[in-house]
Amino acid sequence: MELKFKNKKFNIMVIGDVHEKYDGGKNTEDFLRMLNKMAEELKPDLAMYMGDLVSQDVFDENGNRYPATKEQILAQIERITEPVTSRNIPFALVFGNHDGEGEDVFPKETLLELFRQIPGFVVDDTVVTKEDIFGCGNGNILIKSSDGTKNVFNLWLIDSGNLNPDGGYAYVQPDQIEWYERTAEKLKEENGGVPLPAAVFQHIPIPEEYELLKKTSKFNPLNTKGYGINSDKYYLLDREKAAGYLGEGPAAPNVNSGEFDSWKRMGDVVCAFFGHDHMNEFIGEVDGITLRQCRGSGFHIYGDGLKQGVCMLRLNENDPRNFQITSHHYRDYFGTKSETIKGYMLLSDRWHTNFKKALTGLGIVTGVTAASVIVKKLRKK
Ligand SMILES: [Fe+2]
Ligand SMILES: [Fe+2]
Repeated sequence: MELKFKNKKFNIMVIGDVHEKYDGGKNTEDFLRMLNKMAEELKPDLAMYMGDLVSQDVFDENGNRYPATKEQILAQIERITEPVTSRNIPFALVFGNHDGEGEDVFPKETLLELFRQIPGFVVDDTVVTKEDIFGCGNGNILIKSSDGTKNVFNLWLIDSGNLNPDGGYAYVQPDQIEWYERTAEKLKEENGGVPLPAAVFQHIPIPEEYELLKKTSKFNPLNTKGYGINSDKYYLLDREKAAGYLGEGPAAPNVNSGEFDSWKRMGDVVCAFFGHDHMNEFIGEVDGITLRQCRGSGFHIYGDGLKQGVCMLRLNENDPRNFQITSHHYRDYFGTKSETIKGYMLLSDRWHTNFKKALTGLGIVTGVTAASVIVKKLRKK
């Protein structure tokens, strides 16, 4: 499927982790209400799903777990893409770590085949690389000029894998980086020796996200604990470099395989989008490349405050390096009306963190009070 700018504009709706469940329910209704509204109003030219899409588990009434059948997976895929397919909006995806979890039973290659049964899915054989490199669905999508005569922008789809056997999340492998560099070089040649501006879409964030944060004290009540090799440190969003919201330590891999440095070397990547961390939603520039962390869009997942949402990458054919990114949340459209997120969960993005802190505080107060009562009684005796 050929994608082209329309009247010099091309808008991509970036949809963070969905985590659909086989039996749908009210959480799915909230998600579909949101996506239908956003697809209708924002009218994207392409929808990009950021991975962790559907569940490969089914549970019976006694809570026993079974692997989902192809039909059960396909039903979930149809459900979460219906808001875009029903409006004839083309869509693409990258796979997340959970999409690869059922790999013994249900490999990502099979998932990709199921997605290919859905009309408007653009990740076909012309998009996915034929090279034998790590992962599934690595590829690139070219967006042509309004008149269709030349390539104007490129979208990189990168499979960031599942887990690193040595600990932490997987990292983009050297053979993927080599493939990216070879392909970027070829596109540059075809573009008269100038790097073809591009955006990267990848589920697991890169370690460089931490460059948008600044360290703070363990005792700062507003802090966020780092993740993995950074789990001994505490952070705030660095407001001089980034805007948005930090709800959890970015769960980047412990190993930096040099992907970001490779982007800088090739000079084509102007922005990169990540999913995976359901509560983080921030944007900032590192060494001239915009990093946009997308919060989750689904309602089965952790995350709250009804800030589930999407963002829009807005490209202009005349100046594709000068893009815009806008944020859109459930709350903007439906206020606090929801079937699944209610009560105190509406108050704070970090309700579970804050709740845990409140419980710990309460526990300490109760413990100290109980201890002092016991000591007083013992003294009386
Ligand atoms: Fe996720
Ligand atoms: Fe994930």
